[in-house]
Amino acid sequence: MSHITVTPLSPALGAEVSGIDLHRPIDIQAFSEIRSAWDQYLVLRFRGQQLSDPQLLALSRQFGELDPPGPNPYGKPFLSDFPEINVISNVKVDGQPIGNLGDGEAAWHCDMTYIDNPPRAALLHALELPQGGGDTYWSNMYLAYETLPTELKNKLAGRRVIHDATYNSAGIMRKGMKEINDPREAPGARHPLVIRHPDTDRPALFLGRRRNSYIIGMDLSESESLLDALWEHATRPEFTFRQEWQLHDLVLWDNRCTLHRRDAFDAVARRIMHRTQIKGTALVPGV
Ligand code: OGA
Ligand code: MN
Repeated sequence: MSHITVTPLSPALGAEVSGIDLHRPIDIQAFSEIRSAWDQYLVLRFRGQQLSDPQLLALSRQFGELDPPGPNPYGKPFLSDFPEINVISNVKVDGQPIGNLGDGEAAWHCDMTYIDNPPRAALLHALELPQGGGDTYWSNMYLAYETLPTELKNKLAGRRVIHDATYNSAGIMRKGMKEINDPREAPGARHPLVIRHPDTDRPALFLGRRRNSYIIGMDLSESESLLDALWEHATRPEFTFRQEWQLHDLVLWDNRCTLHRRDAFDAVARRIMHRTQIKGTALVPGV
């Protein structure tokens, strides 16, 4: 007997899951339905789930071992009682930010690909929202790969890319980093340009982030123009889903086969999201 209802949110990716209460452990049947919906739709949205921090942690742990947030610019966890939770917020208390990413646009990226084993997934929970703005978009990297023109596809086989560790998606330099002028010298992990997804076995374009990216072994100018073409293609609107947040939405995404970005919003408005991520594995070439 089916427990949950899955409703697609865009032709490319994203689905709404209803008929489940995430405050309680997910039973085996519902969990397997969620898993297969997740493999199919890549991004799952659950509405009306008001979760405390312990409840968000308990929910997240059902999807795997937690991966703590990367170091933030302030050198200590945003929530001292819950160091596994990251805070995404523009709010300041006594002049000190309570979270990451501010109120500006967050450029297309996937999370923490500058490490060798990037997180496989993230959960983002909306606790306070601005009136407008701050929408988040995801793009489907299976689809991006499948629809590449053949002459572009042919250039990708066996290639690896540098995933720069210097800047976060809000363009802020990470703690302990220095400015990079030549992407060939950027610090950060090297991943296959096309990965084989560990769960679905399907090839997916794996771009990470554009800034300071470099395709190893190419002339810099060739790498730059190929990356520009790949990014242009991978973020075409028809490959994306736009999330217009409602209070207490919980969004779960796969961080290996999607990219995401966020719109800017009014600097005087407040936006507070709590977030966890799930540990991933090394990524193997898909072509
Ligand atoms: C993230 C992220 C975007 C947002 O949590 O990794 O990029 O909408 N968040 O807050
Ligand atoms: Mn992100």
